[in-house]
Amino acid sequence: MNFNRKHLLGIRELEASEISHLLDTADSFRDVSKREVKKVPALRGRTVINLFFESSTRTRTSFEIAAKRLSADAINISVSTSSVNKGETLLDTARNLEAMAPDCIVVRHAMSGAAHHLARMGKAPIINAGDGSHEHPTQALLDALTIREYKGRIEGLKVAIIGDALHSRVARSNVHLLTKLNASVSIAGPGTLVPDEFAELVDNGLRVERRIEDAIEGADVVMILRIQRERQQEAFFPSMREYAVHYGLRMDHLKRAAPDAIVMHPGPMNRGIEVSSEIADSSRSLILDQVTNGVAVRMAVLYLLAGGARNDADEKGH
Ligand code: CP
Repeated sequence: MNFNRKHLLGIRELEASEISHLLDTADSFRDVSKREVKKVPALRGRTVINLFFESSTRTRTSFEIAAKRLSADAINISVSTSSVNKGETLLDTARNLEAMAPDCIVVRHAMSGAAHHLARMGKAPIINAGDGSHEHPTQALLDALTIREYKGRIEGLKVAIIGDALHSRVARSNVHLLTKLNASVSIAGPGTLVPDEFAELVDNGLRVERRIEDAIEGADVVMILRIQRERQQEAFFPSMREYAVHYGLRMDHLKRAAPDAIVMHPGPMNRGIEVSSEIADSSRSLILDQVTNGVAVRMAVLYLLAGGARNDADEKGH
């Protein structure tokens, strides 16, 4: 099948078949990063702009590496030294970048809806690299690729998501993706961070729990969320210490999960708060595998949105 979308703004609007196609395409690119010469010509002559208004280690770097492994020219805009500092708006910034004919713009912004705004108002394909508390579609895709790699499937798995779902774009994208692919999902956290209404995010397949133990019971996958201190304007729990006691994942919790349960975290981790180092550094943890798969997923997304198929057709003389 073809991926007939101009933008990747979120998982919510995707069909299950489109998600599977993205994952299959990512699978096909995984091998490139294992070669001695880590480059294919798929996006030769194409230009990718990374426009990050928020801090990032994994997403920004892996989009840049992905673009370069596809032979695209990758341009990183450092917002701190750009004309945003002189008061230029997000839209004017994007329009000026578009005037230089990029083949796509990857954007991360603190405002939920920022990527949709640019997609509506601009011309270039937009890839959402995280917008506020809304969505982080490529994170959910790389999480799914990692689950598929270790479990062979998504359908029928029990996935427990633990922590600050309220502020988490990773949680929203993962809930949409996992339920569309027929996993059974439970989310646990204090009522302030996992409100009961969260269960209404999708039509079915999502359970809200208060106790970490109830969410983890029999889970095949345990996904831990970062406490998003930068998005918390008020106190959502009494103290970090108290949060760690009630919602920090420890080895004894995992006894309730399936014997071969895997543990994931999107990073960056608050060690000793939402996850113990004993777990983060254990053989159950796939945290660095997630990062590795991030390159393959971003190669797939760039290939499908920035003209990879058109390059292939040109090469075949169509
Ligand atoms: N998971 C994730 O988005 O990490 P970064 O903020 O480092 O990109």
